[in-house]
Amino acid sequence: MNTFPAADALVRRDLSHLWHPCTQMHDHQTVPMIPIARGEGAWLVGTDGRRYLDGISSWWTNLFGHANPRIAAALADQARTLEHVIFAGFTHEPAVALAEELVRVTPPGLDRVFYADNGSAAIEVALKMSFHYWLNQGHGEKTRFIALTGSYHGETLGALSVSDVALYRKTYAPLLLTPILAPSPDAYEAQPGESPASVAQRRLGELRVLLEQHAHEVCAVIVEPLVQCAGGMRMYHPDYLAGLRALCDEFTVHFIADEIAVGFGRTGTLFACEQARVSPDFMCLSKGLTGGFLPLSAVLTTTHVYEAFYAEYSAGKAFLHSHSYTGNPLACRVALETLAIFRDEPVLERNRELAAHLAQRLAPLRDHPHVSAVRQTGMIAAVELVADKRQRTPFPSAERRGLRVYLHGLTQGALLRPLGDVIYFMPPYVVTTQEIDQLVDTAIEGIERAVAG
Ligand SMILES: Cc1ncc(COP(=O)(O)O)c(C=O)c1O
Repeated sequence: MNTFPAADALVRRDLSHLWHPCTQMHDHQTVPMIPIARGEGAWLVGTDGRRYLDGISSWWTNLFGHANPRIAAALADQARTLEHVIFAGFTHEPAVALAEELVRVTPPGLDRVFYADNGSAAIEVALKMSFHYWLNQGHGEKTRFIALTGSYHGETLGALSVSDVALYRKTYAPLLLTPILAPSPDAYEAQPGESPASVAQRRLGELRVLLEQHAHEVCAVIVEPLVQCAGGMRMYHPDYLAGLRALCDEFTVHFIADEIAVGFGRTGTLFACEQARVSPDFMCLSKGLTGGFLPLSAVLTTTHVYEAFYAEYSAGKAFLHSHSYTGNPLACRVALETLAIFRDEPVLERNRELAAHLAQRLAPLRDHPHVSAVRQTGMIAAVELVADKRQRTPFPSAERRGLRVYLHGLTQGALLRPLGDVIYFMPPYVVTTQEIDQLVDTAIEGIERAVAG
C-alpha cells in the first residue's frame, strides 16, 4: 500500500468532510483516495503527477477524452452567453438544437424530448410518463413494471425499484415498488450447447407467460439493451430486443430502453436498439450524452405518447416532473458539441478497430483457470473471475478479489474498477491500441495476483 501517494492535504480535507458514492468510507483506512488535478485524453493526472489511464471512462461517461478541448471551448462560450434559464415558459437555442439532433440520430419514431439531469432522473421520468400515459388513456389499473433480473437503472427510489442488483437494492427494499422480474436473456446463463440467440428465444417465451398473467396491470417493460452493465456486464443477443418489441405491441405495454450506459456508440452502433432494428416507446439517455462533461439526461418518446398528455389545462393531463436545472444550457451545448464530434469524425469505425484489438488481447484469458467467461459487445469487454472454472463457482464475495485488481491497477497507472469479480474495460473512444495493451497487461497481472491464495 505504501507505493501509493502519501495522503496529501487534499485527501485529508476530503476525508474530513466528504462522503463519496458507492463507497464504504471505512475502506479508505487502507484503500487510497486518489487526488486528481487534471485530465487529458484517456488519462487522469494526480496532484503528485502520477497518471492513471481511465479504463472505465469515469463511470462510463467519457467518450472523447478528459478536458476535450473542443467540448471545453463550447462550454466556455456558452458560459459567457447563457448559463441557465428556467425551462418552463422559456426556451433557448442549445435545448432546441439538441432536441432536433437527438430526434435525428435516435431510432425512428422518437420525436419528443424531455430533459432531466442524470440517468436515474431519466428513469423516473420514463416510469412516470408511461404510468401517466395509461392513466390519461383511462387505464389507471396499470401501475406495475416488468424489469429483468440482474438489471440496474439507477439508485433513486423509482429507478432502484426496477433494478435487481442486490448490493444496491436489498437495504432499501422496504421503500420500493415491487417490479415483476422477467429472467434476463443473459448469455452467460445459457444451458449447455445453447446459443445466445436460443437463450433470447427461451427468455422471450418466459416473458410471454408473465405478460399473459400481468399485462393488464403493467405499464412497461424496462431493459438495458444488449448489456446489463452494473449487473456485471452481462450481455445478450439482439433478438431479445426484437422479440420484446413484438411482445410489447401484442400485449399493449410500453417498451422502455435504458440506453444510459450503452448509448452513444458503446455497443458498436450509435444506439444498442439499432442492432435489433427496433424503436422503443421511451429511450433514456445520459452519461455519454455530454461526452462526460456535465450531468444531463434526456427521455425520448413518440408523438403518440405526447398527444395523450396534450389537452386543455382543465383536463389535468399535463405531465408533472420538474427539476430546477432541466434543459441547462451549458449541458445542452456540451451535448451538441459531443454529437457534432460523432458527425465530424469516424467514431464508430475507429471504435470497431479498437474493439477488435481489445478482443484479440483478451482472447488468451479464456483459457485462464480462474476465468469463466470473456465477453464483449463493442467497446465494452468483461472478464469474469471465478474460484472454480468448471462449476463457475464465484469466489466468496468477502474475499474482494476484484478489489485486488483495482489496487494493482492503481500501482501501475490504470483505473480498472471491477464490478465485484468482473474485470471490465470501457475506455474513452480516444484510447490508443498501445493504451489498450497497457490496460490489458495491467489487468492480467492484477488477475494473477487476485486469484493467488
Ligand atoms: C443502465 C443505467 N441506467 C441508469 C443509470 C443511472 O444513472 P446515474 O448514475 O446518472 O443516475 C446507470 C448508471 O450507471 C446505468 O448504468
